[in-house]
Amino acid sequence: MVVKLQDLDLSAKRVLIRQDLNVPISDGRIRSDSRILASIPTIKTVLEAGAGVILMSHLGRPVEGQPESAFSLAPVADYLSSALDQNVALVKDYLEVIPVVDPGQVVLLENVRFNLGEKANDETLAKRYASFCDVFVMDAFGTAHRAQASTHGVARFSASACAGPLLTMELDALSRALEKPASPTVAVVGGAKVSTKLNVLETLSQRVDVLVPGGGIANTFIAALGFSVGRSLYEPDLVDAAKKLIENTDSGAAQIALPQDVKVAREFDQGAPALVREISKVQQEDFILDVGPKTAESYAKLMHSAGTVVWNGPVGVFEFENFGAGTRALGQAIAESNAFSLAGGGDTLAAVEQYQLAENISYISTGGGAFLEFLEGKELPAVAVLNRVG
Ligand code: 3PG
Repeated sequence: MVVKLQDLDLSAKRVLIRQDLNVPISDGRIRSDSRILASIPTIKTVLEAGAGVILMSHLGRPVEGQPESAFSLAPVADYLSSALDQNVALVKDYLEVIPVVDPGQVVLLENVRFNLGEKANDETLAKRYASFCDVFVMDAFGTAHRAQASTHGVARFSASACAGPLLTMELDALSRALEKPASPTVAVVGGAKVSTKLNVLETLSQRVDVLVPGGGIANTFIAALGFSVGRSLYEPDLVDAAKKLIENTDSGAAQIALPQDVKVAREFDQGAPALVREISKVQQEDFILDVGPKTAESYAKLMHSAGTVVWNGPVGVFEFENFGAGTRALGQAIAESNAFSLAGGGDTLAAVEQYQLAENISYISTGGGAFLEFLEGKELPAVAVLNRVG
């Protein structure tokens, strides 16, 4: 049994919270604050319970032992200071001096991936983190698939360790979609390559009623049906795996919903005009960049009649204005549907933001890789360790 934050008395305690504050930053500016916004309720809960708060997170993938300002959490500390309306100091020397927080105070530790041994889950480093607190709270769902010193080792060595509310909420939403779903269940798995999502496709095909491959992934399935995909992105080595998934339908696995028509461009270019083609009519020079209107309509019907929808990945190159209609129609249909809908993954969230769908999607996960690993049915090590130490 995982101990939850609300089960613990936090009054006057030093509480160390691992969050996923890995947000896109360029030129010192935060480009998407959704992960920070999702983390704030936990900080407030812990402060209201009378504790002092130490936050820790990674940012990007710096080389360990070589702190670089481009990977500093300084912009996040500034953001939190204004969001919480109190100073959130960025602490850099925590490997030398134990950070001190009084009840009501919040500090943020500089990027844990600057520390040698973080990724290797080094015991000495994990014990160091554990020494900062009375209670360790794992709330970084987006990093729960990493067994690292700040996500896993620290839980083993802390006086007390528990799951934070964001982590709990994410796991509950994923379980609701995958373990006890309302039927019929539909999963959309879009994106560039089958190879990066083959396990997800295979696992979901055993769990849902209809599987919708999208984007470059759908191209490999179209090739598996024997049609030309022209110059489109697809993976010849995975055509057999796609065929197997299509054929598995006969033995009770998910029905695979493939496009009937597509939108193609003659050049892979932002401003290229879109031409609609039946999937049997794609020409040698064509790039498939979106689904066609008939397909978009059939996706919409599917979403409207679904009981549960899991959405990971766009169905077209929606960054190009002429090729966003399929992803927009799909997203809008998911948002309009009465189904319990769950969306996750970086590109999916960008589409949700672009088409302003967030309000009508039942749950939007903060996880990228963690979301996919959960969909694959893998155990998340930073959650599993809480079961053991709880
Ligand atoms: C993510 O963005 O998916 C998480 O923050 C994990 O980051 P990582 O893939 O660099 O471990």
